Amino acid sequence: MYDILVIGSINADLVFHTDKRPEVGETVLGNSFITVPGGKGANQAVAAARLGAKVGFIGCVGDDANGRVMLENLQGQGVDLQGISIIRGMSTGVAGIVLSGGENSIIVIPGANHLVSKAIIDEHIDMISSSRMVVLQLEIPIETVEYVLDLCSKKNVPVILNPAPAADMEADSILKATYITPNETEVIHLFGNRKVEDILKEYPNKLILTQGKKGASFHDGDKLIHVEGHPVKAVDTTGAGDTFNGALAVAFAEGKDIIKAVEFANKAAAISVTKLGAQGGMPRREDLNNS
Ligand code: RIB
Repeated sequence: MYDILVIGSINADLVFHTDKRPEVGETVLGNSFITVPGGKGANQAVAAARLGAKVGFIGCVGDDANGRVMLENLQGQGVDLQGISIIRGMSTGVAGIVLSGGENSIIVIPGANHLVSKAIIDEHIDMISSSRMVVLQLEIPIETVEYVLDLCSKKNVPVILNPAPAADMEADSILKATYITPNETEVIHLFGNRKVEDILKEYPNKLILTQGKKGASFHDGDKLIHVEGHPVKAVDTTGAGDTFNGALAVAFAEGKDIIKAVEFANKAAAISVTKLGAQGGMPRREDLNNS
């Protein structure tokens, strides 16, 4: 039995740190380069595991050096690897990240993440049935995400859908998720260019808008609730949304109500940006309790 099952992407993040983000046609000299573990799926799984949850994962890596390092990292963080396939002849997903002033710009090359198919889900169907909560993002094929949403709604397994990066999805399918956690760009992409407050009102206690350092908002059926973020000095905001989602899943799996769950997730996300790398600053439970 897993507390949380993440179905999603695993990437090696190639991080270029620079004072000046290059403009089109411009070359700049940067400050440093590191390769660190990433991928929205892997980040969310690590965030949940650090907070003490029993975490399973369904995903794919290639049979390359990046894949081996990413698997070692997940295992070291306590994520169960049995649902991860190693695909021969494929490259592991990579993300090129330009980090400047604590903020990032990212290009993802999905590699093996594109092979997380419905057939792979079928091979691991028992993992879904034996999970308290499933967490999905959009760095694997959308048809697989929609397939999992359908399976989970039939099996009554609650799902958090983090619709990132923004992509087109069937409206019926999106709404099969128990909770949907877009940012300010993604909510417009999914629900149309309307007043965000009106969109939140249509999906009470289901649609949770993440607003970076400002915190998060949702509608409770009666009124709009805004949960304030925590002011911190951001070193690297990469993975803050993933930390929010991983922590939110932990909080829901523990039976917290939506306000308490969002407060918990906001706090975890704030701490995560204080160190370099998507997973570098993700807090452990004691870090949350002591902050
Ligand atoms: O959300 C941050 C993540 O997006 C990075 O770790 C990168 O791999 C991309 O998937």
